[in-house]
Amino acid sequence: MLNKLFNRDTPEREDGLVPVAKMSELVPGKLKRITVKGQSIVLALAEKANDQPDHDVVAFAGICPHALGDLSQGWLTKGEIDCPIHYYRFDTRTGECRYPKGGPALRVYPVTIEDGVILLSVEPPKWMDSSAE
Ligand code: FES
Repeated sequence: MLNKLFNRDTPEREDGLVPVAKMSELVPGKLKRITVKGQSIVLALAEKANDQPDHDVVAFAGICPHALGDLSQGWLTKGEIDCPIHYYRFDTRTGECRYPKGGPALRVYPVTIEDGVILLSVEPPKWMDSSAE
């Protein structure tokens, strides 16, 4: 039953990838909040760490793992997101908590781009029993 609830209205392809946005919808420095399978996710163009002029598409949980802050209201700088509540900082590519060291990891999602369309691989939250229907 929970799986049906969380998969409602999600146009998942047979390969499990979910088309979520067009590349043209993303603007450098802006955070785009979406909901996929009941999960709040933030899409963004993150500057490459080596200061190259182009960007990577990143997708990460919209809810901070520290105390549920809204990361779509945070600040993205060189691929790191600062939570607006207590200023924890996370690497949006790996999910590692950069500040403070040893903090909880941020959930990140694999990104695929096909013909200008952004596709995500979104597994159900771990607390969901995948066998429950
Ligand atoms: S809620 Fe995000 S750092 Fe505390």
